[in-house]
Amino acid sequence: MLSAQKKPAQVKTADAIDLKVKTLLAKMTLDEKIGQLNQYTSDRLATGPLTPNSKKYDEIKAGKVGSMLNVKGAKETRMVQELAMQSRLKIPLLFGLDVIHGYRVTFPVPLAEAASWDLGIIEKSARIAGKEAASAGVHWTFAPMVDIARDPRWGRVMEGAGEDPYLGSLIAGARVKGFQGNGLGSLDAIMACAKHFAAYGAAIGGRDYNTTDMSDRTLWEVYLPPFKAALDAGAATFMNGFNDLNGVPATGNSYLQRDILKGKWAFKGFVVSDWGSIGEMVNHGFAANNKQAGMLAINAGNDMDMESHSYIANLAQLVKEKKVSVATIDEAVKRILRKKFEMGLFDDPYRYSNEEREKSTLNSPENREAAHDVAKRSIVLLKNDNQLLPLSKTLKSIAIIGPLAKSNTDMMGFWSVKWDNDHLVSPYEGIENKVGKTTRLLYAQGCDVTDTSKANFSEAVAIAKRADVVILAVGEHFDMTGEAKSKANIHLPGVQEDLIKAIKATGKPIVVLTMSGRPMIFNWTADHADAILQTWWLGSEAGNAMADVLFGDYNPSGKLPMSFPRSEGQIPVYYSYKSTGRPSSNDYGTGYKSGYIDLQNSPRYAFGYGLSYTQFELSDLKLDKTRIKSNENIRVACTLKNTGKYDGEEVVQLYLRDEVGSVTRPVKELKGFEKIFLKAGETKTVNFVIDKEKLSFYDQKMKWTTEPGNFDVMIGNSSDHIVLNSKFELVQ
Ligand code: NOJ
Repeated sequence: MLSAQKKPAQVKTADAIDLKVKTLLAKMTLDEKIGQLNQYTSDRLATGPLTPNSKKYDEIKAGKVGSMLNVKGAKETRMVQELAMQSRLKIPLLFGLDVIHGYRVTFPVPLAEAASWDLGIIEKSARIAGKEAASAGVHWTFAPMVDIARDPRWGRVMEGAGEDPYLGSLIAGARVKGFQGNGLGSLDAIMACAKHFAAYGAAIGGRDYNTTDMSDRTLWEVYLPPFKAALDAGAATFMNGFNDLNGVPATGNSYLQRDILKGKWAFKGFVVSDWGSIGEMVNHGFAANNKQAGMLAINAGNDMDMESHSYIANLAQLVKEKKVSVATIDEAVKRILRKKFEMGLFDDPYRYSNEEREKSTLNSPENREAAHDVAKRSIVLLKNDNQLLPLSKTLKSIAIIGPLAKSNTDMMGFWSVKWDNDHLVSPYEGIENKVGKTTRLLYAQGCDVTDTSKANFSEAVAIAKRADVVILAVGEHFDMTGEAKSKANIHLPGVQEDLIKAIKATGKPIVVLTMSGRPMIFNWTADHADAILQTWWLGSEAGNAMADVLFGDYNPSGKLPMSFPRSEGQIPVYYSYKSTGRPSSNDYGTGYKSGYIDLQNSPRYAFGYGLSYTQFELSDLKLDKTRIKSNENIRVACTLKNTGKYDGEEVVQLYLRDEVGSVTRPVKELKGFEKIFLKAGETKTVNFVIDKEKLSFYDQKMKWTTEPGNFDVMIGNSSDHIVLNSKFELVQ
């Protein structure tokens, strides 16, 4: 009976909080309850269109505000919390902020971190961000964004984990665990918020905030799994989205919020709207006015109103009119109060706002070192002809050219918390820190990111001619991929690719560093550059991380979490497509096959792709059975050997295909991966277990099930580089 004895203790804590919540609720007036559902932004830092309101502070004192966003820093959060302590019931405020990839120390943008395929470091990055934010009085981050993204025109791809639900789910779990650490109430943990529930990433045409429209199958198979994973990891809160899904805005969608999230999934936390998304249901043509929008939102399960001012203005009246029940409001209030109790805010509303702790935690050398470590592991080597990389640290001269070479600001990426005195290491500085005194560094900008003029090319060419090797730092400015930063043209902007051509024409070996928050298109560069590193936006230690990889202090190990297209015309392009009745045999749509007659189907760089300075060999695929029943597991083993001359890491990827199903299945689906470090010459056995869950799918009746038949097992180091193949049969 040991486990039975242990459990009641947990139940007791939950009950104790329940009791406290109920007792407090009983004391609250309807207006005070509605106040708890109201969230305002601080005017000093707005992350959306601001609705002027000079009475915010008075409203806090009157108990009309339950949460503030964009208030940061121990001093300021304390000051604002003091206002809440002047309210009749002294219910503390929750302070929320977009802590997306770091708080004080900036980590790589989430898409870049996803390229590490390293759940440990992804969790660590969120852990540090959580610790820093918690020490600055922040209780709650609006992260992780777990939206699957298959359209790189959509600016928010930088904030997620890419195109794949399996990888995306594991990363969602890791990020939630990182933010929430040892659990709510620990002084270094903040509440996570899985967003944007749901399907926001499927915006038609890649236009931010646009309509999403998809089958229930796609919703459940592709878009929902990372949310479920975030929930299973304990995500305290969810945020809905700006999008309408199959005709119903996510904010007013009771199928999503009541049936799935709070019903089937039994979510116990609370749901916050996105910024103004309740009011925006009027623009959607779903509600006639802000009042009706509020009614639709709360009845559909949206608990807190972020910046629509709809609940505070209308809920009391809606209750009078019996359009919203007090029970519905109570349910929402209880969810929010529960979190405030769990965070320990009723014991001490200022417990997170401690200036001394803030001072010792923020920007500590360990945190910066961690950001450096994560940054180098997020870099993806796309090309390395003739093993140009790694470069020697004792080259006589290196030309560093390009609009981002000396940029510090762009390294922060979109969605970072801005600091006046931050130092983000530029690529140039990173290289300068790395090479010896005898190496001469030459620099020319060549052009700016969006320049259309080639006037400064000649200076860059002249400098290139004087160097042993040229490093080109090109890409997007930090604010070209992010919220409301959708693009129809995702080619390397401006004349940057022409600059690369001009430099290549000098005959000097060129290494191109491509920097962006999204997959970009750069076909000429992919064909002609000697080496290419996708360096994303890597955060505070960007330049140092790039230099580690350029000069071989770190052997790159990143793999793309999202396909890089050849052309915008292919979008969406992703690896787990369906076969169709006319699969292409030559990657084109010629001969009545599915595809384009003027472009390959395949992306320029596939999901899972990324090179290393060393070479790895996969062999000896073994399955412990070739026939299983659905309640049995299969053990899969293979051998990985480092056959090159550098130590390094490889991500061994396991894909499955269900050959015949009662519904069509993707040509391959990632179902396992291992990131393995091997010294040069070393060999290791890699093991995977395939269980029922990995073989299941939604049948025609949307039942999660397995069906008898053959499965292909594919192992490789990229979705388009499968080296080992086998098969097994599932029998009922
Ligand atoms: C709008 C964004 O969509 C959301 O992700 C973010 O958390 C809020 N603004 C608050 O800044």
